[in-house]
Amino acid sequence: MASYDITDHKYDVVVVGAGGAGLRATLGMAEQGLRTACITKVFPTRSHTVAAQGGIAASLSNMGPDNWQWHMYDTVKGSDWLGDTDAMEYLARSAPAAVYELEHYGVPFSRTEEGKIYQRPFGGHTTEFGEGPPVQRTCAAADRTGHAILHTLYGQSLKNNAEFYIEYFAIDLLMSDDGVCQGVVCWKLDDGTIHVFHAKMVVLATGGYGRAYFSATSAHTCTGDGGGMVARAGLPLQDMEFVQFHPTGIYGSGCLITEGARGEGGYLTNSEGERFMERYAPTYKDLAPRDYVSRSMTMEIREGRGVGEGGDHIHLHLNHLPPEQLALRLPGISESAKIFAGVDVTKEPIPVLPTVHYNMGGIPTNYWGEVLNPTEDDPTAVVPGLMAVGEAGCASVHGANRLGSNSLIDLVVFGRAAAIRAGKVVDRDSAIPTAPQSEVDKAMGRFDKVRYADGAIPTAELRLEMQKTMQSDAAVFRASDSLAEGVTKMTEIAGKLPDIKVTDRSLIWNSDLMESLELGNLMPNALATIVGAEARKESRGAHAHEDFAERDDENWRVHTVARVEGNAVELTYRPVIEAPLTTEDEGGIALKKIAPKARTF
Ligand code: FUM
Repeated sequence: MASYDITDHKYDVVVVGAGGAGLRATLGMAEQGLRTACITKVFPTRSHTVAAQGGIAASLSNMGPDNWQWHMYDTVKGSDWLGDTDAMEYLARSAPAAVYELEHYGVPFSRTEEGKIYQRPFGGHTTEFGEGPPVQRTCAAADRTGHAILHTLYGQSLKNNAEFYIEYFAIDLLMSDDGVCQGVVCWKLDDGTIHVFHAKMVVLATGGYGRAYFSATSAHTCTGDGGGMVARAGLPLQDMEFVQFHPTGIYGSGCLITEGARGEGGYLTNSEGERFMERYAPTYKDLAPRDYVSRSMTMEIREGRGVGEGGDHIHLHLNHLPPEQLALRLPGISESAKIFAGVDVTKEPIPVLPTVHYNMGGIPTNYWGEVLNPTEDDPTAVVPGLMAVGEAGCASVHGANRLGSNSLIDLVVFGRAAAIRAGKVVDRDSAIPTAPQSEVDKAMGRFDKVRYADGAIPTAELRLEMQKTMQSDAAVFRASDSLAEGVTKMTEIAGKLPDIKVTDRSLIWNSDLMESLELGNLMPNALATIVGAEARKESRGAHAHEDFAERDDENWRVHTVARVEGNAVELTYRPVIEAPLTTEDEGGIALKKIAPKARTF
């Protein structure tokens, strides 16, 4: 192995990732006086949260009646009864306070005439436990809400003396012999040095793995780095088969057109000019949840009613809305539509197609962000020293399908929860443990192997094979044949990882090496996704199985737990947490209200 210039650092807490969840966790840790480092492979305000457009869900009731119980009900139903009830209650109850906290930190929310935070409708958010009209629950800063939140949280973190290690790539976790996470080893991209961070707590906030697919709204940096590190540490991933397709990615480029566009009154049409969502979801129409709308669009295309020369996409209309409303509420997507589709939204419809957008699955955690390593005896066993938050984690608050705008609120609620928990479990007075040298050597051995990889397949070629396979075999609709074929192909593709070829051996700004390490992270995420999907013989949320069209609560209301080693995946299952945090007597939601039932809109 080549010799490397290694620097050691010691912190109470190390957060990996500086998106919304990572920054909210970092800020919360630093506010409590914990010595906190935030390590990020991109500049914090370039993290993928910056691309979040439509808003953040919280029952503020600024635009009409709302309450946290309705929000919780919608989240439970949105999850298709796969979410953990304690986590979903925690999310909905904590949401208003978390949004007001953001407001006080300085997030420039859009305002109503009275000066309150502006809220817009989003898919699947309703009143009266799904019996009433859509609710305006999604708090927005025009259509650049993630951008506003990210800049504010970064500023606040700096103000509270959090230390940032920017453009550092996390290679691997450092685990003690008895299974405690004690740090992480990183590569500094601009000078090629290696940095070992020893810590009492490591928080993974590394985002999703959208780039396992060919077409995604996710940034190219969304490569499931946390999931990759966790899998290599012998820890599991959860519910990976649930991948969300956003109904309105721009046809061709996949760029996001916010659901807020439909929240502001936009609607979808097919080649006959028909508002087809009225047939599929008579009550909520274009404001049904994303899995519903994406499936409806796909069915229209399949049945020959797609638009365009190839009949392979759908139209989103905003051209009936007042230009002033578009300029005030949707300026960002008006610009995206012009740049990426050549469309003036005041005059023409936008060509759109369901596009991979979000991973409901991830690193299993409880609602405090503590990582779980479930066993048969203890399905909620905690991994000491390790937390995961945001899209990297699976609390599980979104279950089989996430509601739009429940992602930004997940980031801040669970980022904050992780900080609260760390404040309790991290002993500030104890010495920071030194992570085992054998773990550093193991991580550097792997790094060195990738750096000098001299196999037959260029990284980009293998990545494309993976992306194309995932796109065609783990799509909006799935079937036994294509899933089985997908598992065979992905097992073969993952088996080729040791045979990649890296041509640049340098250590400074080496994008070839970084993309190869990222591919090593994407692969276990992708593999767990397709193997979990093949095994799940039912349809639930985003997992629409043509050969098992119904939800099967008796056999499948369980979380998939996937352990990946090389190109082999072992699946076990753990029960869904059905009990809420509070009872009806304590003001909580009545159990009968959230009992599973048919999911119609
Ligand atoms: O459509 C959107 O603005 C995306 C929001 C989300 O994924 O929560």
